[in-house]
Formats: sequence, C-alpha cells, structure tokens
Amino acid sequence: MFTGLSHVSIAVPDLEAAARRLREAFGLSIGEVLTNAEQGVRLAYVDLANARIELMEPVRPDSPVAKFLARNPKGGIHHFSLTVDDTASTAEDLRAQGIRILGDARPQYNVAGQRIAFLHPDDFLGALVELEAHSAKG
Ligand code: CO
Repeated sequence: MFTGLSHVSIAVPDLEAAARRLREAFGLSIGEVLTNAEQGVRLAYVDLANARIELMEPVRPDSPVAKFLARNPKGGIHHFSLTVDDTASTAEDLRAQGIRILGDARPQYNVAGQRIAFLHPDDFLGALVELEAHSAKG
C-alpha cells in the first residue's frame, strides 16, 4: 500500500528565516520557493538522500497551516507524507476499511501536480498523514 516516505513537513511562520536557519546551522540547501494556492501555502524543500523536508508557510489566514501555527506559533512538524502508486484508489481502499480521508469532496494536488490526500490523524496514531502519488497516473 505505502511505497515509501516522501517528506516530513514543518509549518513555519517565516519561510525565508526557516531556510536561513537550516542553511546556517546545518548546511542544508533549500530549493526554490513555490506557492500552492489551493493549499494556501508557500513551500520550499530540502532534498535528502531518501526523502525531503518540506517547509510550509501559510499565505492566508484560513489555510489549515495558519490554524496550526495559531496553536503552535514557533512552528513544528505538521504532517508526514507517504508515497503510494495511486492516491485515489488507495484512499478508496482505506475508506472502505473505515479510515477517514480529509477534505475529499474534491481532489487535492501538491505543488508538483501530484494527487494527494490526507488521512484523519485519529486513524493514524495521532499523526496527520499525507498520501502522495508517485506514478504518472496519480
Ligand atoms: Co506535504
């Protein structure tokens, strides 16, 4: 079902400050800043050998990430993302087993155009889990 770890996502109040911190303290290089208007976030990634760190800064107050930062003003781990071959069919299989899929009234996509879905944290040990398609059909 799950084929790997895509990324661990950290919500931050200031994307540029976060990137500078990771660069100066840990020598990590941060990629270009991207915007996902649908999710209401600006994003940047640190590429590691086998997964990425995602930094997310909200761009509007009604973004779920803005709500997370209201509770955690310094930022913190927001979710982690597991890769799947096909997001829609995996979400369908999970739903059939009683797992709650968040916001599935309409399909969601990440900044690379890959189909994503989120599992309810109460159904995954308290962690918010993103599913991310890594096949062409998504
Ligand atoms: Co993510």
